Amino acid sequence: MNILITGGAGFIGSHLIDKLIESNKVICVDKLIFGKSNISHLLNNSNFKLYEIDLTNFDLLDEIFKNNSIDMVYHLAANSDIQKGALNPDIDFNDTFLTTKVLLDVMRKNNVKNLFFSSTSAVYGEKNEILNENTPGLRPVSYYGGAKLSSEALISSYAAMCDMNVMIFRFPNVIGPRLTHGVIFDFINKLKKNPKRLEILGNGLQCKPYIYVLDLVDAIIKMTKSMNKGIDLYNISVIGNGTTVNEIADIVVDEMKLKDVEYIYSGSDRGWKGDVPKFSYDITKILNTGWKPKYNSNEAVRKTVKDVLGE
Ligand SMILES: NC(=O)c1ccc[n+]([C@@H]2O[C@H](COP(=O)([O-])OP(=O)(O)OC[C@H]3O[C@@H](n4cnc5c(N)ncnc54)[C@H](O)[C@@H]3O)[C@@H](O)[C@H]2O)c1
Repeated sequence: MNILITGGAGFIGSHLIDKLIESNKVICVDKLIFGKSNISHLLNNSNFKLYEIDLTNFDLLDEIFKNNSIDMVYHLAANSDIQKGALNPDIDFNDTFLTTKVLLDVMRKNNVKNLFFSSTSAVYGEKNEILNENTPGLRPVSYYGGAKLSSEALISSYAAMCDMNVMIFRFPNVIGPRLTHGVIFDFINKLKKNPKRLEILGNGLQCKPYIYVLDLVDAIIKMTKSMNKGIDLYNISVIGNGTTVNEIADIVVDEMKLKDVEYIYSGSDRGWKGDVPKFSYDITKILNTGWKPKYNSNEAVRKTVKDVLGE
């Protein structure tokens, strides 16, 4: 197949390409916010093409679709830094929502029918219940969550109007080698600068599930092997409990072999405005397909800390 991946130079996209390229031709479209380091090993591969463009440019994207016969699109490009997006709503409007809108228009024009979309737990907003795919009343509390939920709505309309086959996964926190941001990345960098003191955003009790990136990629590839008309939506996560920020701090300190580190808390129950401090997923639907993650949340955190320290 000829596969086009948006955001393929990013953290998750680059891992997805590593697997897809084993049996497909892959076209990566990315504006390279984090550079090319995640895909540098692919640049001489004859099954790989890179186009450095901003996806919100309809004409440039249309040209790429015209010059390549695309069978399937994986749309991962977005602003992935919620804290950065919190400072300026335009960031998520452009990189998270408008990228989706332009991509859908180009797919419509070029009659490309198959789409995978990377959505997020942030679409649910703050809810005190276990979240499943039918949880009603989604009220995002960040611009990022709003832009992803709007993208889902727009995708739904294009799927119906253009007879598309769409799969949407709502990711939890995703971690592993090549991380570009997030709590593990942040703690390791802070402790490298000052091994005696760790500033923790929030009260440390925030608790979320963390999935290992290769478990996620495995599910994406398995589930997109057969695409159905309309929309298939899955929550994806680990089995068992999430990991608290305090547990992450302890694991990072332990793996860095540090002693007597003082934790300093910024205070409130959340790291920043727009953060959802706790959530938990019901993943019965995806487990019923036969897919199962290898790692639970704490194992994924420890493995990622080892990966990042070894990079
Ligand atoms: N990492 C997580 O924990 C997580 C959780 C939930 C959902 N997601 C979603 O998964 C996807 C991948 O996330 P990631 O962590 O790999 O992010 P990432 O930031 O590492 O990668 C995103 C890529 O998209 C590209 N991009 C952004 N805007 C673009 C634009 N306008 N035109 C072209 N390229 C553009 C960036 O250059 C980057 O390479 C995103 O859609 C993100 O919202 C990630």
